Amino acid sequence: MTAQLFTPLSLRDIRLRNRVVIPPMCQYSARDGIAGDYHLVHYGRFALGGAGLVILEATAVVPEGRITHGDLGIWSDAHGDALARVAGFLKAHGAAAGVQLAHAGRKASMQRPWEGNGPLSADEIARGEAPWPVVAPSAIPLDEGWLMPAELSPADLDALTAAFAAVARRADAAGFDVIELHAAHGYLLHTFLSPLTNRREDAFGGDRAGRMRFPLGVARALREAWPAGKPLFVRVSAVDGLDGGLTLEDTLAFAAELRVLGVDVLDCSSGGLAGSATAARIRRDYGFQVGFAEAVRRETGLATMAVGLIVDPRQADGIVTEGRADLVAVGREALADPNWAVRASRALDGAEEPGFEAWPQQAGWWLERRE
Ligand code: FNR
Repeated sequence: MTAQLFTPLSLRDIRLRNRVVIPPMCQYSARDGIAGDYHLVHYGRFALGGAGLVILEATAVVPEGRITHGDLGIWSDAHGDALARVAGFLKAHGAAAGVQLAHAGRKASMQRPWEGNGPLSADEIARGEAPWPVVAPSAIPLDEGWLMPAELSPADLDALTAAFAAVARRADAAGFDVIELHAAHGYLLHTFLSPLTNRREDAFGGDRAGRMRFPLGVARALREAWPAGKPLFVRVSAVDGLDGGLTLEDTLAFAAELRVLGVDVLDCSSGGLAGSATAARIRRDYGFQVGFAEAVRRETGLATMAVGLIVDPRQADGIVTEGRADLVAVGREALADPNWAVRASRALDGAEEPGFEAWPQQAGWWLERRE
């Protein structure tokens, strides 16, 4: 019997060959936001490795929305053309192609993680990677020593909503099957949702309805711009894990509204709102965020994706079999082994001599005849 993890899932007109998703993971390896050979090879490995859906990393809708100078972007046709090559390869090898549309908000203009993970310093400036002004719902910096964000005006918000819609059309033209809207991890949309970072007194702040207004407006604009046959995902931080921060109740309310707007899947992550000095009270253990995906699925009827320290094929299969989530994302474990999905399909087969049918024939034909 095929393991539940390896049953297909149809979302609108898109059929995923299985439930294994590669979640968005920034590579900080683009030049001026343009995807290059690195991205083709890096993402291509996951399609060859059997994943059902590969979601490209946070891809900035406007240049100022990048986290670092190395982030991918999708703000011009040249960016779309470069991404089309990656999407085309993924689809040619059986994976659905997704892209995460993002704006970093007050967490923009940073060093790459391995260069310090802090605000851009004199070293980067000396080699031409200057900081740029950052924006947010309210003028509250990430932490001490970080750039003070400018508060976005209602006109700025309209322009950003239009930018999201425009890049959704570009993502469609580039051949992507799935868009994921990034509303997690302390980036722009999350900072609107959380009462800790949204202190606005206009229609885009205040109570929960006000704080959700801009993120919901972006989701609505994406749904209208994105073809009706293609699924739309939203990634949230289901809780902030901070005093006075977002709670699961807030997330359930947001999920219910997204469902009405025609969002297809809620990708349930957590945390990331504050600077490193303010550690969130979120205990990281195997599958530590699965409960959020389970609660959203149960309480709102929205399909969900579970993510976070899902590392083992049986663990992943159990999440789907027990109805806790519809999709399972495997991030760092797939960085360690891009063949995670095809290997998992053998491990779960239960056959005495599990075959290599799921592997690309260029490898599978030989592996089958190894002995
Ligand atoms: C990430 N993560 C992430 N999340 C997101 O929404 N957009 C992004 O661009 C990134 N970038 C990113 C880069 C790298 C190198 C890592 C390791 C992680 C978070 C990621 O999608 C995932 O939620 C976490 O890694 C937890 O899942 P795993 O790795 O425990 O399976």
